Amino acid sequence: MRAVDLIRKKRDCGELSREETGFLVSGYTSGEIPDYQMAAWLMAAWIRGLNRAEIAALTEVMLHSGEVLSLSEIPGRKVDKHSTGGVGDKTSLILAPIVAAGGLTVPMISGRGLGHTGGTLDKLEAIPGFNTNLSLAEFRSVLHECGMGLIGQTAEIAPADKKIYALRDVTSTVESAGLICASIMSKKLAEGIDALVLDVKTGSGAFMKKEEDSVRLAEVMVETGKRMGKKVVALITDMNQPLGRMAGHSNEVWESMEVLKGRGPDDLRDLSLELSAWMFFLGERTKSVDEGRALSEKLVATCQALEKFRQGIRLQGGDERVVDEPERLPQARFHAEVISPAAGYVNITNCEQLGTALAVLGGGREKKEDKVDHAVGLEFHKRIGDHVEKNEKLVTIHYNSDAKLAEAKNLISSSYVVSESAPREQRALVRRIIGA
Ligand code: URA
Repeated sequence: MRAVDLIRKKRDCGELSREETGFLVSGYTSGEIPDYQMAAWLMAAWIRGLNRAEIAALTEVMLHSGEVLSLSEIPGRKVDKHSTGGVGDKTSLILAPIVAAGGLTVPMISGRGLGHTGGTLDKLEAIPGFNTNLSLAEFRSVLHECGMGLIGQTAEIAPADKKIYALRDVTSTVESAGLICASIMSKKLAEGIDALVLDVKTGSGAFMKKEEDSVRLAEVMVETGKRMGKKVVALITDMNQPLGRMAGHSNEVWESMEVLKGRGPDDLRDLSLELSAWMFFLGERTKSVDEGRALSEKLVATCQALEKFRQGIRLQGGDERVVDEPERLPQARFHAEVISPAAGYVNITNCEQLGTALAVLGGGREKKEDKVDHAVGLEFHKRIGDHVEKNEKLVTIHYNSDAKLAEAKNLISSSYVVSESAPREQRALVRRIIGA
């Protein structure tokens, strides 16, 4: 078998067999197939699409590219959540400590920034010293001690996703239902979990812009998880505007801690509590989702979730003083404002561009080897439907270098429209639930 033939087959709309998919993924993971051939195949798969059998095969060979963890030595249920990615989407940092404080185990394998979206690992690494590269033995020990651990794909767990994910990020091959399903489900199924809650974003800041595409992606992921014997539900949630008021790594750690302290913006708090409620329910810690929500609220109100977050930071080598002194997080040197050109009502017509602006400022990667700048960020002052005065602030930019400021400002200002009448449709944050 040769990689070049498999690229041509996909380019010409053919269907790869399980054996061919296995050859491609194992060859790329071991280094025998180079980046340029895998990138060409990914682009062919992006353009031609993958059918259900190909998605199932890709997910399974990626899952078995490394170890499939058994955490049976840790008592109780193990649950996790994964999002398909958005702008300002930081709920993992909030719900992992809530759910661990409630007595379930959360073995979370996350990703880095992908396309215009931020990644949990990059956000956590804004905390000085925080180590997302734990060995398997260290991961198990952290899970044992505090009930939550957040790491990336490793040489041992989902190594194929680690390599393919980084390549997709810089080759514009992210927004494909088949590739997203295989990426998410391969690392989640490797974690040794009993149940999984998926947050499938929809809207202009999501990879799937149309709700019907998000639903189709949710269905294929739920089906894949159930086939592997896991309890899975997917919440289809709105991503037509950033979640919360902050985007950027330090900013998002700060805002997550605000929610854990009982403050923070309503949309971020509501979605975090909803997702943790489902985790409690699927993890059989509560008899209903409503009970799960009440438990989540209590764990925040009593600061048990915040204390769990502090313990998690300490056990992964981070500086836990950031909890009480958030100014210890990396801070940008300069601030600039994007102001409203007129008085009126705010609409965000291109949320993806807001994520791209952050990436351009240094918050994302252009090449695989790039380092992200944890200090840069965006602070959103207005939500869709809010009234704004002429020259009032829409967005504050936190930046470190003038070089890309003008480009970022353009991307931001062209993402907003201010008009005389309020946008008609106010979309619900949770749009649908699949697989309940
Ligand atoms: N999150 C992932 O882990 N993979 C994707 O492809 C998209 C979002």
